[in-house]
Amino acid sequence: MSLVGREVVLGVGGGIAAYKSCELLRRLQDRGYKVTVVPTPSSLNFVGKATWEALSGRPVNTQVWENVHTVPHVKIADTADFFLIAPATADLIARLATGRADDLLTNLVLASDVPKMLVPAMHPSMWLDPATVTNVQTLRDRGFIVMEPEVGRLTGNDIGPGRFPEVPRIIKSFDDVTGNIQDLVGRRVLVTAGGTREAIDPVRFIGNKSSGKQGVAIALAARNRGAQVHLIAANFETSHLDGIEVSKVESAADMHAVLLEQFPQCDVLIMSAAVADAKPKSLSLDKIKKALLGSIELEENPDLLGSLMSIKKNQVVIGFAAETKDHLQEARRKLEAKGLDLIYVNDVSGGAIFGQEQTMGTILLRNDADIAVKEVSKDALGNLLLDHAIRQLG
Ligand code: CTP
Repeated sequence: MSLVGREVVLGVGGGIAAYKSCELLRRLQDRGYKVTVVPTPSSLNFVGKATWEALSGRPVNTQVWENVHTVPHVKIADTADFFLIAPATADLIARLATGRADDLLTNLVLASDVPKMLVPAMHPSMWLDPATVTNVQTLRDRGFIVMEPEVGRLTGNDIGPGRFPEVPRIIKSFDDVTGNIQDLVGRRVLVTAGGTREAIDPVRFIGNKSSGKQGVAIALAARNRGAQVHLIAANFETSHLDGIEVSKVESAADMHAVLLEQFPQCDVLIMSAAVADAKPKSLSLDKIKKALLGSIELEENPDLLGSLMSIKKNQVVIGFAAETKDHLQEARRKLEAKGLDLIYVNDVSGGAIFGQEQTMGTILLRNDADIAVKEVSKDALGNLLLDHAIRQLG
């Protein structure tokens, strides 16, 4: 399952604790989750649709009868990575346990097989009632994660189990469900991504096939693990990257300038960008006529990674290589020549890997055996590289 830009359905049941889920929504967004709020109709008595729409920045529906042409219960279910239902009332738990589908939220739960966590909140007698106890057990048996409510004072003067847990406790349990590890808090991760373009004239350039997907996956994985992330993005769309500082660049020279400025402050540099090896010797200010395009004189670009080695302190530096032959020998040569701690190499014969969601290749380390990476998502590779970086940071 993708850990990047994870889509969460925040289901809200009709209990007074619904207002606490406004804070929960904010904290989920802070952690990079994309959240669609699906309240039950009765919960709107506590928190209205307008509040959820304003906080989530997304449309909010309670029934399958709204926007029918978009088939909302299938569409939202298809894109969701996780469900978090908070508060889960006794009635909502009963409806879920019996497989009812009488509002949008219960339809979605039935239509989706992703992990689902429930945060019950209700009066202690309702929580301890044998009907609720059985329903909770049924849901747990089906794989739902049902949190234990806290013991304490309820809305009236009664005391007992049934209180909505504090938001940080809910987030902690939800992280366990989603596999969200926060092991990069306080670390700065610098990532380059995309392919540089070297201008020939005002309309033409020398470029390459890099889509930026791998670098974006690494940046998001680092952000999701708590790092402060700076992404140097060469020629791709970045508007969806919340919580990441982005420098947009075009050429290798632009990328070099940002790298020199950012590298001294970072703990980890992951250089996934495809840097053009050469650029036109001179840039024509006018569009070159086709009759004059027979040849373009090129000059080599500087090796950006190589140029950072003289200012390298304790940073962990990871490079990428895309090769069409002798890929392991070539990668080892680059690992050593560029003074890298790790290099990930993939075989791109026939244009494989570029623009795709999956990758496969080999991780080469300085003093360790090579690690083969079988077909994995680009965000899984991002997490794997970050695991190595953390190990080397100590
Ligand atoms: N790289 C760099 N500066 C360049 C070219 C590449 O910093 N001018 C980085 C890439 O971002 C990548 C690593 O070096 O992390 C290897 O890139 P690659 O293009 O495979 O290496 P080159 O040095 O260009 O080697 P060759 O042209 O011989 O394949």
